[in-house]
Amino acid sequence: MINAGIVGGTGYTGVELLRILVQHPKVKLKVITSRQEAGTGVDELFSSLRGQIALKFSDPAKVDFSKCDVVFFATPNGIAMQQAKALLDSGIKVIDLAADFRIKDVAEWEKWYGMTHAAPELVAEAVYGLPEVNREKIRDARLIANPGCYPTAVQLGFIPLIEAGAVDADHLIADTKSGVSGAGRKAEIHTLYAEASDNFKSYAVPGHRHLPEIRQGLSERSNGPIGLTFVPHLTPMIRGIHATLYARLTRDVDLQTLYENRYANEPFVDVLPAGSHPETRSVRGSNFCRIAVHRPGNGDTAVILSVTDNLVKGAAGQAVQNMNIMYGLPETTGIRHVPLLP
Ligand SMILES: NC(=O)c1ccc[n+]([C@@H]2O[C@H](COP(=O)([O-])OP(=O)(O)OC[C@H]3O[C@@H](n4cnc5c(N)ncnc54)[C@H](OP(=O)(O)O)[C@@H]3O)[C@@H](O)[C@H]2O)c1
Repeated sequence: MINAGIVGGTGYTGVELLRILVQHPKVKLKVITSRQEAGTGVDELFSSLRGQIALKFSDPAKVDFSKCDVVFFATPNGIAMQQAKALLDSGIKVIDLAADFRIKDVAEWEKWYGMTHAAPELVAEAVYGLPEVNREKIRDARLIANPGCYPTAVQLGFIPLIEAGAVDADHLIADTKSGVSGAGRKAEIHTLYAEASDNFKSYAVPGHRHLPEIRQGLSERSNGPIGLTFVPHLTPMIRGIHATLYARLTRDVDLQTLYENRYANEPFVDVLPAGSHPETRSVRGSNFCRIAVHRPGNGDTAVILSVTDNLVKGAAGQAVQNMNIMYGLPETTGIRHVPLLP
């Protein structure tokens, strides 16, 4: 069994990790932290977990991870970087769902995240946990930088075109929409019911923190810099990411065959039949990314539609997929949930 700990067990990605890990046949949860709920039973706070877990939340300042093989950080940015070194030095693997280790250029990370990096020496070692790209490196990793929710949907959507060198990589466009759980469980005005429901808006158009992460990932696939216009939107859904991606084709290519071939062996990337329009509800609660490809009017613009559940393939599910790979388990162990419909 893999003994696991979670720092930040009361947030949306934390409770999603709990939902997945209590059903995982090879994992035993040892420690779950919360500063605000220390001492509260996990299933007292989350009635969805009644009968599934006997642990209480622990204060992260007093917690002992020595019985853990792996610790997940489902915390705000800037927390994992303070604790990762001590855990790694004790032989404990770390999977960070936040952004602390995602950007290889530390100065660039500090600019976007507005803080000084506490463990810059670990950034080079950290493996970016997108299995469809880095599976081999993930196998041997001690420290995983789990991708962001938008970056997962956008990169999986663009990767086949970029790798094939079939598009103008200087002028990519990602028009993306997220459900409100993407903002986390903390109280904020813009996520209040009366603000976020029955409304639709863009945000962070001049620059969103996921832009440098997506640019880094796609540049690696194209072996050169890429140009991306990234426009996120907040939609009145609870879960879900829908990315509508546009790229100008520079040569004739059979998009359907290109995507089907690229993802033929990927258990969690589903290329839909030609002409499809994926819906966020077709992945809700699951680790799938469903993709459809279009070429309107047979012109030179490729339109790629990519949907994920931001809390699963966009966060906790992908984190568990990475853990499975790190421990040599079948990659789908414990994350084969069928999406919830309706
Ligand atoms: N929501 C998504 O769709 C999504 C997707 C991909 C990645 N992520 C990333 O995953 C991370 C967690 O996101 P979330 O949406 O689950 O956030 P959240 O709902 O706001 O939860 C944050 C958790 O971290 C704990 N925490 C806060 N400050 C802490 C500190 N200083 N030390 C230890 N624990 C602390 C909180 O509990 P206490 O305050 O009680 O300690 C809470 O359990 C973020 O970095 C986010 O960017 C989120």
